[in-house]
Amino acid sequence: MTQLTFPQGFLWGTATASYQIEGAAGEDGRGPSIWDTFSATPGKTWRGQSGAVACDHYHRVDEDVALMASLGVDTYRFSIAWPRIQPDGTGPANPKGLDFYDRLVDKLVAAGIKPMPTLYHWDLPQSFEDRGGWPERETAERFADYAAIVGARLSDRVHTWWTLNEPWCSAFLGYGNGHHAPGRTEPAAALAAVHHLNLAHGLAVQALRGAGAEQVSIVLNPTQCRGEEEAVRVVDGIANRVFFDPILLGQYPADVIERTQHHTDWSFVKEGDLEAINQPIDVLGINYYSPTWLRAKPGEPESDVGPGTIGVETYTPDGLEFTDMGWAVDATGLTDLLVRIHKDYGIATMITENGAAYPTGPGEDGEVHDEERVAYLRSHIAAVHDAIEAGADVRGYTAWSLMDNFEWAFGYDKRFGIVHVDYATQQRTPKDSAKFYSKVIADNGLDR
Ligand code: FCB
Repeated sequence: MTQLTFPQGFLWGTATASYQIEGAAGEDGRGPSIWDTFSATPGKTWRGQSGAVACDHYHRVDEDVALMASLGVDTYRFSIAWPRIQPDGTGPANPKGLDFYDRLVDKLVAAGIKPMPTLYHWDLPQSFEDRGGWPERETAERFADYAAIVGARLSDRVHTWWTLNEPWCSAFLGYGNGHHAPGRTEPAAALAAVHHLNLAHGLAVQALRGAGAEQVSIVLNPTQCRGEEEAVRVVDGIANRVFFDPILLGQYPADVIERTQHHTDWSFVKEGDLEAINQPIDVLGINYYSPTWLRAKPGEPESDVGPGTIGVETYTPDGLEFTDMGWAVDATGLTDLLVRIHKDYGIATMITENGAAYPTGPGEDGEVHDEERVAYLRSHIAAVHDAIEAGADVRGYTAWSLMDNFEWAFGYDKRFGIVHVDYATQQRTPKDSAKFYSKVIADNGLDR
């Protein structure tokens, strides 16, 4: 066994998102979001479940912060619900909404935990969707107002801000294949959403800096593409470079624009937009779960990965293990991804999400022996170490998730937590993976 030690100052954290844990959907002036609407639409989520109650975190903040403190985490990545701050997405702030996050930030700081809020983890105020949603430019412009409001209130205590979580999902699951809210299936709208999400990021970075923010960035979920070279290039374009390139280089990839001409001429990109998007950012947030394998398949229509992918199919090689999501376990994909970002873009990274769904619940002894999750975390944390050894500047690792929660369209059927939640009683039970992770944090490393 080798002991792997991480660089001094490496940050260890856990992550959650507002709609997945808070509950209290109708409380203290919170307005409806697209996820309330989507969950209430028959057939959209598992057993019609919603985040209306979720982990009741809104009322259990003290307990949850104490839980994190007991694990010894350095940081907590949570998200702010835009509809709590501006119930219909515009206008003055709702004081009770702002107070909730202000108190959370204070409690974290008091517990020695660095707050890392995400401004947008998918709960768009419904009023924007009623006016067209992310395919409309207005949504990006109003997002900057919201960023300025929360930035002014919290920046003095926030360690790192994340503007958006996984814009690929917002655009392509929300407006492309319809698996996520708002559930639209319009490729042209999905591409317009990509641009307006990128723009929203750039405008919000400027608003946050104006409000005194220190570190600002975005969380992406790049797909580590494996398989045939040409198929990989196609999907790398629509899944990865369509975000990396405007944000980090100030341009859209020409091959993506060309391959999507049958949907749109990209005239939604206005003069000055690319400069607005290409703001200096401090560290790129990376969410990683599993790679994607690709090959050519003549005659194949556009895949679920995104528009412009005609003739490409995804496949899964034999001999792999799968999580409860059906996602293949391959930790080397994380190393390859981090090294690739380092080489192609030269930016520092932080793992803002990584983890696995397994159904393991409490055994007869009352403990949760989730060895598969322990193995997943061990191999992926070691993979981050491999990337650092290969030269990548990786600043931290954030486990998804602090606790079991509302897994979007999969409802409460999929459990990603290192802490088990009994939804009937709201009892939290740290799983074996939480104990394992706590030791990794204490040792700033692990054995392999
Ligand atoms: C990511 C999301 C997060 C969670 C995990 C499993 O795509 O950002 O909210 O659902 O997947």
